[in-house]
Amino acid sequence: MSHIHIDITGLAFGYEKAAKIIDGLSVSFQEHDAVGIIGANGAGKSTFLKLLVGLELPSSGSIRIEEIPVEKGTLAKIRERIGYVFQDSDTQLFMTTVREDVAFAPTNYGLPADEVNRRVDRALELVHIPHLADKAIYTLSGGEKKLASIATILSMTPDIMLLDEPSVALDPRNRRNLIHILNEFSHLKIIASHDLDFIWDTCSRVILMDHGQLVADGPADQLLRNETLLTSHGLELPLSLQKRHGAHA
Ligand SMILES: Nc1ncnc2c1ncn2[C@@H]1O[C@H](COP(=O)(O)OP(=O)(O)OP(=O)(O)O)[C@@H](O)[C@H]1O
Ligand SMILES: [Mg+2]
Repeated sequence: MSHIHIDITGLAFGYEKAAKIIDGLSVSFQEHDAVGIIGANGAGKSTFLKLLVGLELPSSGSIRIEEIPVEKGTLAKIRERIGYVFQDSDTQLFMTTVREDVAFAPTNYGLPADEVNRRVDRALELVHIPHLADKAIYTLSGGEKKLASIATILSMTPDIMLLDEPSVALDPRNRRNLIHILNEFSHLKIIASHDLDFIWDTCSRVILMDHGQLVADGPADQLLRNETLLTSHGLELPLSLQKRHGAHA
C-alpha cells in the first residue's frame, strides 16, 4: 500500500503575472495529518487548495502527491486520490439532481451501477440528506448544497480530503455531524476555514497563511491559543477559547 503524503517545494502562483498570490511555499503533509489552513480573507487558502488538485498550475515550484507530480498529464490520477470540497458549492455541483451529482465520481470511476447506488445511498445517509436525493440542485438551500457537496466526496474512498470552508452555512446539528464524519476519516485531511472552533475540533496541526506565505505551522493546541499571533494576522481566538465565552456582556 502506498504511503499517503504530499510534498510541496517553493510553490509560487499568481492569477495575473505580477501578483504573487502564493509566494514561495514549502510544506509537507503525512498520512494521518489533520491540518487546518487559516488566514484572513484573500490570504491564499483557496488558491493553495486549488493548486493541490491542479485546478490551477504553479508558476514555479512543485507539488508531489504520493510521489506523483501535479501537472497536466497526471490530473486524472491525482483526482482519483483526492476528495475536494469547493468553497463555492455552485462550482462543485453541476448535474441536475443531488443523486446524479453524488453518483458522478463513482460512475466515472467505472464502478457497477449497484455499487454506485449503494455508495450514493450511504453518502447521503452520512450527511443526513437521503430525502433530498431526487431534488433539483438549483432548488436547494445554501446549507443543503454544502451537504450535497460533501456527499460527492464521501461516495468515493479518497486517500486525501481537501475541504474549503466546509462548515459554512451548516446548522449546529449538521456542523456537529460533519465534525464527527471528519474525525472518523483517519487519512490525510486539509481543511481551510474561518471557523476556528471547527478547526479546533477536527485538526491537530494548523498552518497560518498571510499574503500567500506560510507564516506559522504547528500543533493546533498551541497555534490556536496564540492570541498575539492570530491578531497580528487579522484573526481572533476561537470563540471557545475567548475569556468572555458564554458571558452576555
Ligand atoms: N480567479 C481569480 N483571478 C484573479 N484573482 C483572484 C482569483 N481568485 C482569487 N484571486 C485573488 O487571489 C487572492 C487569494 O484568494 P483566495 O481565494 O485564495 O483567498 P482565501 O484565503 O481563500 O480567502 P477567503 O478567506 O476570502 O476565502 C485574493 O486576493 C483574490 O482576490
Ligand atoms: Mg477561500
